[in-house]
Amino acid sequence: MFMNLYESINRIKSIMYESVKDYEITTYGDIKSPNGMIVCITTTDGKHIGETNIIDFENGLSLSPNLTKFMETNNDMFNQDNCVYQYSLNIDQPYQRQGWGEKLKHECHDIIKNLGYMYATNIVRHDNVGSQKLMNKLGYKKHQSNEERDILYLEL
Ligand SMILES: CC(C)(COP(=O)(O)OP(=O)(O)OC[C@H]1O[C@@H](n2cnc3c(N)ncnc32)[C@H](O)[C@@H]1OP(=O)(O)O)[C@@H](O)C(=O)NCCC(=O)NCCS
Repeated sequence: MFMNLYESINRIKSIMYESVKDYEITTYGDIKSPNGMIVCITTTDGKHIGETNIIDFENGLSLSPNLTKFMETNNDMFNQDNCVYQYSLNIDQPYQRQGWGEKLKHECHDIIKNLGYMYATNIVRHDNVGSQKLMNKLGYKKHQSNEERDILYLEL
């Protein structure tokens, strides 16, 4: 009886802490526009931690020669209705390696999924070890590679 009560209290506590976020997310602009949406992550007292951009497929093609090059080489799955392109992920140096990049990406995935898209894509240089490992941890798969870069995608 007491054990059950103790376990229940702990379960309630962990649910409460999980739902309290130690950061804030602010978005600027529209995914369906020439520069897409900027997604910013800040501390709860307003300090900038990092940001990234999300843009729809057609505007992404206009913006990114790398995306265009990949899609001209092989596109068997992505289109305007099912996919967005993410670019310019940056976490400010003092905040790196503390889980903020991962949190920002999870927030982006929620935004993208809630808008009804199926795939999130990124292009990452082969030599960007940190970013490659982050994408791998988040479950991204490789669609194709060229001499310098990979295009990675996540099925949401
Ligand atoms: C790449 C970047 C966004 C990662 O953000 P971050 O907040 O430092 O990463 P996180 O702390 O959330 O790390 C999450 C996971 O990513 C991986 N990772 C991140 N940085 C890493 C690094 N420098 N070396 C190895 N793995 C790394 C790890 O798997 C890590 O999980 P772990 O802590 O359990 O090992 C950040 O380093 C950055 O802004 N770099 C400069 C700009 C850049 O390269 N942007 C990406 C362009 S595609």
